[in-house]
Parts: sequence; C-alpha cells; structure tokens
Amino acid sequence: MSEKTYLLGIDLSTSMAKALLIDIEGKVLGVGATALTLSTPRPLWSEQDPEEWWEGVSASIRKVLDQTGIDAVQIAAIGLTGQMHGLVLLDQDGNVLRPAILWNDQRTATQCDEMRARIGKKNLIQISGNDALTGFTAPKILWVQENEPQVYARVRHILLPKDYIRYRLTGTYAMDKADGSGTILFDLKMRTWSPELLAALQIPAEWLPPTYEGPEFTGHVTSQAAGQTGLQAGTPVSAGGGDQSAQAVGVGAVQPGIVALTVGTSGVVFATTPAPLIEPEGRLHAFCHAVPGMWHLMGVMLSAAVSLQWYRDTLAPEFSFDALLKEAEAIPAGSEGLQFLPYLSGERTPYPDPLARGAFIGLTLRHTRAHLTRAVLEGVAFGLKDCFQLLQTAGLGEISQVRASGGGVKGALWRQILADVLGSELVYPNTSEGGAYGAALLAGVGAGIWPDVLAACQANIQLTGHTRPDPIGMEAYRRPYEIYQSLYPALTPTFHHIG
Ligand code: XUL
Repeated sequence: MSEKTYLLGIDLSTSMAKALLIDIEGKVLGVGATALTLSTPRPLWSEQDPEEWWEGVSASIRKVLDQTGIDAVQIAAIGLTGQMHGLVLLDQDGNVLRPAILWNDQRTATQCDEMRARIGKKNLIQISGNDALTGFTAPKILWVQENEPQVYARVRHILLPKDYIRYRLTGTYAMDKADGSGTILFDLKMRTWSPELLAALQIPAEWLPPTYEGPEFTGHVTSQAAGQTGLQAGTPVSAGGGDQSAQAVGVGAVQPGIVALTVGTSGVVFATTPAPLIEPEGRLHAFCHAVPGMWHLMGVMLSAAVSLQWYRDTLAPEFSFDALLKEAEAIPAGSEGLQFLPYLSGERTPYPDPLARGAFIGLTLRHTRAHLTRAVLEGVAFGLKDCFQLLQTAGLGEISQVRASGGGVKGALWRQILADVLGSELVYPNTSEGGAYGAALLAGVGAGIWPDVLAACQANIQLTGHTRPDPIGMEAYRRPYEIYQSLYPALTPTFHHIG
C-alpha cells in the first residue's frame, strides 16, 4: 500500500478556487488556481453561482495533481476553507435554489434592523457574540424568506460556500464551527446552533447541518467526485474553517497573545481567545476558532489592499505598484495633511455602515500623485489601527506578537507605515498560502499526522523577518490619526445623505 504523505487544502475565496498540496513536512508542492466571476445584479448585491465554484475547485484539484505528478492515493486528508457568511440554499435533493448571496452583499440593512427588533440587540450579542450585520448569513436568510417566498418554500438545506464544496466532494451536509458561528445563528458559548435564535427567525433547525471542530473528519470523497476531480474515492475530508480562522492557523495565530494581521483585499486583525470573549457593542466579531475549544475576536475592514488596487487602476493605471510606492517613499509621514478614507465598500469595523464612503480629504495644490499614494497606504493603516485598538481594549490580555501576512505586507514602505501607525512590531511567517495552508494543517491533525493544531503550527511555521516601529514615525502619525478618527463621525450625515 502506498504511503499517505500528502495533504490537500482547498480555499474557495471570492476571486479564486485554489487547491494546495503540501507534504507532511509542511512543504508546499504546488498550487492549482481557477479564477471565479462575481455577479452584482443590482447595486449593493453580490452573488456567485455555486456550480461555478465546484467547477473551479475540480479544475484546480486536477491542475495541482497534474502539476506535481502526485498520485491521489497518497493524499492522507483534505481540508476546506473559504469565504465566510455566504448563503447557499438547497432543495431536498441537494439542488441549488438561487445564486449564493455573498459576505460582501449589502442588501439586508432592513433585515438586520428586524433581527435586532425581534431578538433585542443586547440579547443577540449575548447569544451569538455579534450584532446583526449585512455581511452575516442570518439576515440573508430573512431576506429570502421575505422577498423570494417561492424559493424559501423549497429550502431544505442551508450551507456556507465551502460546505457546498464539501457536499459535492462527499455527499454529506456538514459545517465547521468557525464558519457556523459566522452565520450568527450560533450559541457562541455552546459552539452549536441556538434554538432561541432559530425560533425567533422561524428557521427550521433541520435545515442546518451538524457542525464539527476544524480537524474532525466530516465525510469521504465519493466515487462520483473522484471521477470529476482526480482524487481517490474514500479520501477523508476535514471540517476545516472559514477563511479567517484557517488563515490564522496558516500563520500560526492559534494561541492567546498572538494576533494575526492580514492585509489582503480586506484587512483583518484576529486574536485567539481561550473562552468566548464578546465586545459589548458588537463592534468586533466574536466567532469560534477552527482550533478545537478556542474562540476568536476579530475586526474586519472591508477595503484594505483593494484600496490601493482601486487607486492604481483608477488614477494611475499606467504605473506599476512598485513605481507608485517608490515615489511615495519620498513623502513625509502624514502626507502633508492629506487624508484618505478607505470605506470604498462601506465598512464593518469599527463602523458597521454599508453607506460609509471613501474620500480624499485635505487636498491642496501642493499635493502630488505621490502624496495621494502615500495617503492611501496611511488611510488603510489608520483603519487597521481602529480595529487593533478595539482588540487592545477588549480584555484579551497582553498582545505579545503581531503576525502579518497578505499582499499589503510584501513591500517595505507599507510594512513600516503599518508598524509605526499600530505602534507594534510586525513579524512575518514563512507561509504565504495562509488559508489553504491552514486548511491542509487542520486536515493533517484530523489524519493524526500532528497531535493538535498548535503542534502542527509549531512543526511547520517559522518566522522569517520583522519590522520594528520607529519612534519618530510613531510620533509623526499621532496627529494625522487623531484627524482620521474625527472624519467618519463628521462625514456620516453626508454619507447617509448620498445614500
Ligand atoms: C470575515 C469575512 C471575510 C470573508 C471573505 O468575516 O467576511 O473574511 O470571509 O473573505
């Protein structure tokens, strides 16, 4: 019999279906990726076709198997991760009833108000750990209940995006606890569905799948899925985790005191907690971790690295990122009074407001393109500081280390701005495939390759560098940050007037 010495991590993000193969020494052997399309049928709506997810994942698995030449028989286990909160509705035969409504869809402001009215905001935060936000799953279910009753009448199963992939791979309806809690239908302390919340929203409990801790096996690849993907029938599939908790595993942020800072499309600060810790106003998200028996608190800003992408594509398309960042280096900290508000898709933390908008403020004739670029980098760093400060005052205890990852921390300038603005040293893990890597490690724990998630991280994740805050830079950002903090409150009436 051939040895089972490989692990497969599957990451269904919003832009990409990725399949990552590692060996049991933690070495990355190959990545298969397939781009996904996003549909915005109306302003504020964001949808995807689950069939396209499955085709993308199957193609990526085939690509990585071809590329590496690895025999699928040797894969010990598969781990799943992906975009959180998206609503997938299935009928009694497992057919998809409508396009999935995604995490960044903002149509449910009314349903969020309704949830608070029915359950009570305080009570909802006490039970689920979270306020009702448009990003989360529960208000999306209410929206379908109210706006598409003919669809709702046929619903028999509710899944999240990566759990639809699990269903196609294994034929089982199952979910991990990290993603389950992101529906805000969970009793956070109990790590399972809340009968009180389900009753208040009239959602039948039998529509929701059983939930599992991250490493636990939830099923095995069927022969039909094996035919479509090139995988071996019978390969076990672990529960995995939503993208943020799997990313935290992938960079080794699995113990209290270690914060994961991810500067990707969105910007996230994430802290592991040994008990469910709730921010009383619900300004931070409190979910279960993919690490068994652990929870986490997290702040999410919606437009982090994508702010720079938008800026380049819109205002300086003929320049490379490197060229823009190079000229921004020459501009002093604070961009000579120019501020950028990064609320390009509304915001979540610390302002849960789909109507918040982006802005450049303080423009003068002196300001050049280089100032604009630097202001974008600084504005995103200020937004992350807002999230970081909420974590620092949430009763976590001491933050001993900040592990930074994502496209935004690849270059020296943004790294230094972030370290100075946050006033904290940043350290960098050797793993760059965050979520998919974390999913593969969770599968490895499920397969018994490592005794637990901490051991898996310790065996495989090393720190490769750091950026220390510069006291002069820290001082230079003090006043600009105060000004930044005053801008959202001052502009809220205008944002809401724009509508
Ligand atoms: C987390 C969140 C995003 C999505 C998309 O709360 O909404 O991380 O999962 O990546």
